Amino acid sequence: MAIISSKHPSSTPDEPPKRQRQPPPPGDSLLQPTASSEEQEKQEEGIRPQRLADYIGQKELKGILEIAILAAKGRGETLDHLLLYGPPGLGKTTMSLILAAEMGANCKITTAPALERPRDIVGVLMNLSAGDILFIDEIHRLSKMTEELLYPAMEDFRLDITVGKGPTARTRSLKLPPFTLVGATTRVGSLSSPLRDRFGLIQRLRFYELDELTTIVLRTAEILQVAISEDGSQEIARRSRGTPRIANRLLKRVRDYAQVKFASTIDQTIASEALEVYNVDPMGLDWIDRELLKVMIEKFNGKPVGLDTLAAATGEDALTIEDFCEPYLLQIGYLQRTPRGRIATYDARKHLGYVGW
Ligand code: ADE
Repeated sequence: MAIISSKHPSSTPDEPPKRQRQPPPPGDSLLQPTASSEEQEKQEEGIRPQRLADYIGQKELKGILEIAILAAKGRGETLDHLLLYGPPGLGKTTMSLILAAEMGANCKITTAPALERPRDIVGVLMNLSAGDILFIDEIHRLSKMTEELLYPAMEDFRLDITVGKGPTARTRSLKLPPFTLVGATTRVGSLSSPLRDRFGLIQRLRFYELDELTTIVLRTAEILQVAISEDGSQEIARRSRGTPRIANRLLKRVRDYAQVKFASTIDQTIASEALEVYNVDPMGLDWIDRELLKVMIEKFNGKPVGLDTLAAATGEDALTIEDFCEPYLLQIGYLQRTPRGRIATYDARKHLGYVGW
């Protein structure tokens, strides 16, 4: 199954030839993004927490937002524009919906690629009502023209549009209702500084701790009416690479497995058996992660490897590697980034059984 639709330039003559990707074993894409953001929204509908008090984890972020909400409500104003960044699946959209609920406002959700033409953002801005939260996912992908229309909208709730063409062209300013822009990105470094500077709050979402993910799995199991033990949830949590979206996805697959095996409760044995079938290992690595590490260890003998070389050598998309595989491998200390390239660490070698190799 295709992993991600984003394109990366194909090999240049200097790069090693692109290796034909081996067919992945079944279930290899359970951890990687396969669904469009709309499909992801659907999958997560019904299991998202609705209020801040139900949101598990991200304690620091919740504390900061609680203050911002109370202060804005106290003044009768909208919240300051907020930029949320961090790896995918950690709850940026969920947090935006919660902010709207806490403020008693509507949340309008869109994504930068849907705002390619200036008229797209003009349409969205002109349809806002006072107090609305406008959530723009992948905000680092906005076009320059769209970004420039956003500047006065963010700063002064004003939309500057050009009417006509050539020497008769004129700029008209339209008043917009006060609104809050919540931007989400996996790549905060790719945001232009004028756009970044217009956010009053810039907050990072972190990977979740094991106990937080275990609680999330238990909560989702209750919503889905699935019987699960504490150690069963912990097993799923352990293999979810610090990410609630993955934890909930794995829970659904383990539920399928338990059902066809006539297991009345998901316990640790059922959870680990199921996740082995889906090729998710005890550290939450899938086929792609293991392939990346193996290539670094075997093919490049543990020497630093550049991203494009790694992409060519594994047949994997560079953006997928950078945005989806690496953050977790870095977090668990299996990968190091050096100025000369990526290295698989001793812990990664040990995990894959290379120690003494
Ligand atoms: N489901 C997904 N993310 C969650 C979170 N942070 N808290 C509670 N339930 C969730």
